[in-house]
Amino acid sequence: MAKQQAAQQVADHFTELYGSAPEGVWAAPGRVNLIGEHTDYNDGFVMPFALPHRATAAVSRRTDGVVRLHSADIDSGVTELRLDSLAPGTDSTWTAYPAGVLWALREAGHTVTGADIHLSSTVPTGAGLSSSAAIEVVTALALNDLYGLAVPGSRLARLCQRAENIYVGAPTGIMDQTASACCEPGHALFLDTRDLSQQQIPFDLAAAGLRLLVVDTQVTHAHSGGEYGKRRAGCEKAASLLGVHALRDIPHPDLTPALSRLAEKARRTGTADAEELVRLVRHVVTENHRVERTVSLLRSGDPRAIGPILTEGHASLRDDFRVSCPELDLTVDTALTAGALGARMTGGGFGGSAIVLTAEPDVPLITKAVEEAFTTAGHKPPRVFEAVPSAGARRLN
Ligand code: GLA
Repeated sequence: MAKQQAAQQVADHFTELYGSAPEGVWAAPGRVNLIGEHTDYNDGFVMPFALPHRATAAVSRRTDGVVRLHSADIDSGVTELRLDSLAPGTDSTWTAYPAGVLWALREAGHTVTGADIHLSSTVPTGAGLSSSAAIEVVTALALNDLYGLAVPGSRLARLCQRAENIYVGAPTGIMDQTASACCEPGHALFLDTRDLSQQQIPFDLAAAGLRLLVVDTQVTHAHSGGEYGKRRAGCEKAASLLGVHALRDIPHPDLTPALSRLAEKARRTGTADAEELVRLVRHVVTENHRVERTVSLLRSGDPRAIGPILTEGHASLRDDFRVSCPELDLTVDTALTAGALGARMTGGGFGGSAIVLTAEPDVPLITKAVEEAFTTAGHKPPRVFEAVPSAGARRLN
């Protein structure tokens, strides 16, 4: 009911702005990633689920080659752009995300002649919860429906990734957009980012007496910044030294010999960052294995047992991939000491959010322990909330 009211509010706001009711209202969620971090640009495995937080868009078509964009969350008025002047790298504001989607759809040969768009989002921004993917996917889905393009969800996700990679200029993988487009309530999405095959894995925390907390450290991250791109370039360099297409091609049992081969090759070719490349490869190969282990435990109906795998994943991101930060480490350490079953950072890192798996009765204790630890350390207070695996993108009315 509350959600229907929120959708109506977005529609009403559209009507006030643009002078007539929208043709429809759509929603697309943010996500958390349960396990499988920094694997998506290595052709590997990921396992996100959708949050109840979502971007909502009221949209109507236009026929004059104009797009008008407005956000309820950003005080910048209505932006008017001409479709034929959309070009990558020309916009450094929020409008690059929806405009990039229009650009990507047209570039892929789809006929889109303009749109009036009003957006409103409850996905926290800069928190590693895919607020930008939610905006891209809701825009893409609305245009897909209105223009009758019949592009399936996973292909829409690919177009949204192109918008983000090329139009916005952030070198991210395919996980966030696919999660937003394709997740289902009560499930985590097991995605093979090589062939984009998907399996919905039942993830009913409540039935198992469990909860998953999201701790938004309020440390803002940004992926167009250099560190994400450096990790990605390092992985690509390591794959090329190892003679494989992507790090996904190193099977877990071959990890030790592959690392020796890599160190040897790096020495012979005079590569200065051999030690760093070894760490990157070790993270990606063990992380893919952690996703497979998680899938098999969830399939066998044992969600509680995934806790230690989440914690292992955090250590690997902190020590090998080096994308954590003091606030994320503090969250994980404090939650585990307070009795959590497992905890790790989620998303790209360098700030953003952590997830904590816990038995339901321990939620208040863990929340309090994390909040107190932040106060003691002099950090800004974190935002803690429970995540329930929710629906992917869809039309609301
Ligand atoms: C960000 C990117 C994703 C993925 C994660 C790390 O969220 O958008 O594509 O690479 O970081 O797993």
